[in-house]
Amino acid sequence: MEKKNIDWANLGFSYMETDKRYVCNYKDGAWEEGGLTDDPMITMSECAGVLQYAQTVFEGLKAYTTEDGHIVCFRPDLNADRLYDSALRLEMPPFPKDKFIEAVKMVVKANDAYVPPFGSGATLYIRPYMFGSNPVIGVKPADEYQFRIFTTPVGPYFKGGAKPITIRVSDFDRAAPRGTGNIKAGLNYAMSLHAIVEAHKAGFDENVYLDPATRTKIEETGGANVLFVDADGNLVVPKSDSILPSITRRSLVYVAQHYLGLNVEEREVYLDEVENFKECGLCGTAAVISPVGKINDHGREICFASGMEKMGPTIQKLYDTLTGIQMGRIEAPEGWIVTVE
Ligand code: PLP
Ligand code: COI
Repeated sequence: MEKKNIDWANLGFSYMETDKRYVCNYKDGAWEEGGLTDDPMITMSECAGVLQYAQTVFEGLKAYTTEDGHIVCFRPDLNADRLYDSALRLEMPPFPKDKFIEAVKMVVKANDAYVPPFGSGATLYIRPYMFGSNPVIGVKPADEYQFRIFTTPVGPYFKGGAKPITIRVSDFDRAAPRGTGNIKAGLNYAMSLHAIVEAHKAGFDENVYLDPATRTKIEETGGANVLFVDADGNLVVPKSDSILPSITRRSLVYVAQHYLGLNVEEREVYLDEVENFKECGLCGTAAVISPVGKINDHGREICFASGMEKMGPTIQKLYDTLTGIQMGRIEAPEGWIVTVE
């Protein structure tokens, strides 16, 4: 396969149309066979459930070129599981997990010319999603759905790549107690748009949200979970029922414990104690691990010892080990890497 002529090293996190996408429809109580198509456009009823009542859930994962030239995906089974849980919460028919993994492989293979080469700093982002497609006017779940996967080559999520960012404590809540914060539903992102536009206008890179019940604990940002390193070198990971169960975060906890010998505390983290931490990072598929240099809490600056120039040493080790596993430089735990070709 000949790679596309793309300036891989300068890609940002934006959409570039690729050749093929996967489509599968749900009708009369069953998912059809599904397959690839060239058509990036979707035609549906003006009254489709997704358009009226936001009945849509999605996933995000990546394909990587390894050092020895294979194309692989990272833990797609966990994306299949999470999409399944997200769908059930929004009364959508869950997409079968085996079929999900086969579809991911099929669509990545069909777009292999867009998978960035090893060492380019870019990856192929894979976006599976599903939505209610038939007309719905009374508030109820749709009867028909479409599941799709498209791919797009991407670079770093935050401009500047590994440069530390500044985030601010948001006055808005991302999720309600017992709401939908723990699933990957489009509605969680729609409600964050105003907050992110305002944060950018004020010169911040992202918002960090507090727990909606007491507004005293750290939850997560608009598109990533948060990690801290405390003064004793422990990895401290906020735990909450209303944050997304990040696959990157769960993998990093394992890496910290089993590859780096770090002690990990998964617990509620109070905003008040954050000033005692040495390092902070955001983790997710898109964010990978993005170092945070500063948190602004209504004008009070919480500056991490790692500063604004580079990643702190522990976050750097986590980053190197995780990306080493993803790119085949470091042996992965059993089942983490799925080879596409
Ligand atoms: N939190 C939110 C709100 C996200 O959108 C994402 C991105 O998927 C994450 C966390 C990170 O999750 P993952 O590591 O599974 O990509
Ligand atoms: C991802 O990391 O895959 C996400 O979905 C986050 C999104 C904000 C781009």
